[in-house]
Amino acid sequence: MKRVFSGVQPTNFVHLGNYLGAIQQFVKLQDQADCYYCVVNLHAITIPRDPQELREKTLDLAAMYLAVGLDPKKATLFVQSQVRAHSEAGWLLQCLARIGELNRMIQYKEKSKGSDSVVAGLYTYPVLQAADILLYQADQVPVGEDQKQHIELTRELAERFNRDYGHVLTVPEALIQKEGAKIMGLDEPEKKMSKSADSHFNYITMLDEPKLIEKKLKRAVTDSENIVRYDPETKPGVSNLLVLYSRFADISICELERKYEGIGYGQLKKDVIEATIDHLTPIQQRYHEIRLSDELIRILQQGAEKANEVAEQTVRKMKDAMGIL
Ligand code: TYM
Repeated sequence: MKRVFSGVQPTNFVHLGNYLGAIQQFVKLQDQADCYYCVVNLHAITIPRDPQELREKTLDLAAMYLAVGLDPKKATLFVQSQVRAHSEAGWLLQCLARIGELNRMIQYKEKSKGSDSVVAGLYTYPVLQAADILLYQADQVPVGEDQKQHIELTRELAERFNRDYGHVLTVPEALIQKEGAKIMGLDEPEKKMSKSADSHFNYITMLDEPKLIEKKLKRAVTDSENIVRYDPETKPGVSNLLVLYSRFADISICELERKYEGIGYGQLKKDVIEATIDHLTPIQQRYHEIRLSDELIRILQQGAEKANEVAEQTVRKMKDAMGIL
């Protein structure tokens, strides 16, 4: 059986990009593979966070994992900081990663914007991510397109480790979907939907109320052509709406193009709004029930125990291979 690992940062709130790009794949994979899904709270502190808020957001995200349909009987759900091997393996891999390759990481370049006051953790962030994945000997890593380069680095580090110290680590591959791997910002569809966007009209979070979803989608930027056609290059706004509708209503984009022949953007937006609200409402109801239950803490404890067993074995093998007593 294949092993799958992935993680999401507990920052702001999960938006449709995270959900459609990554988390929906997590749910599908739990029936086919041995899955480990992590709330990567150590990654979140590469940017200053309020401690109480970080605690809450860690549990919020874990509750969202369950609300979207992850089942602790099928997949192991846990919090990164509750498995010490992540920090330990992160250091071992830092001693293999090269400055040159970290300098090339697009996300680092974007987030640091050339400033020398960013913390060192932001720079070594992709190495901790590699440790996350390699500790579980994952074969596959479901992610959105923006993580492609980090998974490439993970592969490179695994291969380097195996070459230098003998075969210990599985070289993973990224699982990136054809459609939905890059959900675009509603207010700026040339760029990806992002938790850190300046305006909240950029994204829809999984917990947005129906009225707010409607408002945000009504304001979504389209173009002046009024022809519904999928063409991400020249019609990024409309194409993005088509992806959302296609995924929420489970209708192919080709079919949607046919459906809207001769019909303008007004109707498309109405339908996207309805499909989005219909999809999110039951998730939101489950989320609120789970978030307040003691069950959540118990599930995370059990998840951490299981994750610890696997991760400890790998880090021990890594240390043995490297001659670390
Ligand atoms: P994060 O928390 O930024 O995002 C979580 C997942 O959501 C995907 N994603 C998107 N997909 C489509 N369209 C978008 N607009 C969009 N925005 C985000 C991301 O690609 C990601 O899959 N570095 C990771 C967290 C991480 C991780 C890992 C992931 C840490 N360790 C190990 C996989 C394996 C991150 O910041 O994701």
